[in-house]
Order: sequence, then C-alpha cells, then structure tokens
Amino acid sequence: MSAFGTVFTPEMIISRFENNNWSTPQVVKSDSITLHPGAHVLHYSSTCFEGLKAFRHADGGIYIFRMDKNVARMAQSSELLSLPKIDQTMLSEMITDIVSRFAADVPNPPGSMYIRPTHIGTEPSIGKAAAPSLQSLMYVLLSPVGDYFAGGAKPLRLLLEDNARCASHMGMVKSGGNYASALQPIMKARAAVQADQVLFCPNGDVQETGAANFLLIDGKEIITKALDASFLHGVTRDSILTLARDRGMTVSERQLTVDELLERAAKPDAEAALSGTAAVLTPVGTLIHDGKEHTVGTGQGGPTTNALRQALNEIQWGQAEDKHGWLTKV
Ligand code: PLP
Ligand code: COI
Repeated sequence: MSAFGTVFTPEMIISRFENNNWSTPQVVKSDSITLHPGAHVLHYSSTCFEGLKAFRHADGGIYIFRMDKNVARMAQSSELLSLPKIDQTMLSEMITDIVSRFAADVPNPPGSMYIRPTHIGTEPSIGKAAAPSLQSLMYVLLSPVGDYFAGGAKPLRLLLEDNARCASHMGMVKSGGNYASALQPIMKARAAVQADQVLFCPNGDVQETGAANFLLIDGKEIITKALDASFLHGVTRDSILTLARDRGMTVSERQLTVDELLERAAKPDAEAALSGTAAVLTPVGTLIHDGKEHTVGTGQGGPTTNALRQALNEIQWGQAEDKHGWLTKV
C-alpha cells in the first residue's frame, strides 16, 4: 500500500469566493491549482483544512463519518483565521458530490476514502499582513488510504515535550501553521529517541500530539484534557468518549498533569491511546520523559483500547447499529 495521503483521485471539487460570493462548485482535475505568488495564504498562512473519511459497507453503500462535525469545525477554523465565511450546506454538498463520483474508488475496510476539504486565502496582496484575504478558494481532495501508522496498531512511543505545539489560542484551529510549528520537535524526537510522536505538555499539562488527541485509560475511567482553545477538538475523541459512556465507563474531561499521567500509566492494567481520523485509536506503549522510558501498563496496548477501536470501526464499517446517527450515505 502507498504511504498515507500520497494517492489522489484524478478530480476534486472547487469553489471560489470573490465579490462576496461563492461560485458554483466545479469538478476539476486535482493535479494543480493556479495561485498568484502574492496570494495571502503563501505569506500570511490563511489556510485551514479538515480530515474525514468515507467507508464502504458490505452492501456496497458508501457512508461518510460525522461529516456535520467536520464541516462545522472547518467553519469555525475559517472564522478564527478571518477567512471568508463558508457556506456549510454548500461544503457538505461538495463533499457528498465528489465522494459519490469516486464511489468506485473507496477501498474496502480497513481502508477508506480520506477526504481533505481545504480553504485558502487567495487575494494577491502582500500588504495585507494585518488584514484578511477577501478572496479564497475552497476545494475537496480525495485520497484512498489504509493505515496511517506504518506499523498498524503497534503500540507507539511518545516523547513528552514541555513546550506547546502552537500558539495557545490557536490549537483548536486546524491550520497548516500549527503543523509546521510542531515539525522541529517531532523530527528531533524521532532522531533522539526513535519516538513515533511528540506529546505536547506545556507547563506539565498533557495536551495532544502533532496529529491526534491523547487518552489515558485506567480501569473503567477514561481521562483526557477538557476542551479549551489550546488543542484540536477531535471528532474521533468525541466519538470514542461517547462510545466509552455507552459502555458505562466514567469519562473524565479535565486537566491531566504529566506527574499524574506517569503515576497512573505505571499501573499494570493502564492503557493509553491516540485518537484521530487518520490514527483511529492507536495504543501507546511507551512514554519518554526527562530521558527516562515509562512503559504504559503492559506496553502492548490493552483490551479497552481494542474494544473501543472495534466499536468505532464496526459503526464506520456498517457492522453495528449507527445509534448516534454518525453516518451520511452518499
Ligand atoms: N489533534 C491534531 C493536531 C490532529 O491533527 C488531529 C487529526 O485530525 C486530531 C487531534 C484528531 O482530530 P480528529 O479526531 O477530528 O481527526
Ligand atoms: C487527520 O487525522 O485527519 C489528520 O489531519 C492527521 C493528518 C496527519 C493525516
């Protein structure tokens, strides 16, 4: 299988915002867009995106998982970046239109069609360092995918980093700049301790990794940071917490300090996991902090992580009832 996100369908769908209006979405070739070199996005990073998936069910039907949540988050990201206001109904229709055109290319489970809506400021104005772009481009790219983590569901090694991933008021925005600012710590962690990901813990507050949310599981309790502006409000996080509540688990959305994490992770039945559209729910086996390696529980993941991942996949793949109404048929 090719690396995650490197294969694209030959067409995408696009709409432009100009003169206070969104153009009628058009299906175009997906291999290029034309931008003025002075486009706002290239200088002042007026860009946000989403990541969601479409799944093929056994009856051949194609279903998109939690599209409304992702579209709403894209609207919020656009607003917080002062990009033109998006039309959520139009974006939803763009997504279902392009996915239905490429329905035949949606892989069978465990594969899926990764959907990448993107919104960028295109006004050619390098003078607008402190002013928003009044023109923009929104498009939806599709990429058939398999597993995000090359080792499948192999337990991950996370390096705990004392610095923040990005500016504290911008973490909830799914914007390219946040990813770029996390790259140096991630590359250093890979080289120094062969970490798979960095777990950002500014001032000892356990936040998230560069591409997924973090969850600690201690018996019947699941603990994760309460929502605030400093980190991404993962749709998978919300789904897993809902499924945990459905199973009678106690969900604690609150502050988790590094000290508490390391103490509880040392219990023999402790589990930790990363949640995300790409990551699904991937077990964490090792936490590295201050030069010391801490094994989480057995270091091999555990039954609750597996059960929650399976419960999520069964809904996505049409093997369990969609009780919460999370699927949209295209
Ligand atoms: N945090 C970051 C930084 C991410 O990139 C992602 C992935 O999208 C997530 C969390 C998880 O979000 P979601 O579950 O909506 O995919
Ligand atoms: C996602 O899970 O959708 C993300 O945006 C993570 C990305 C690194 C693929």
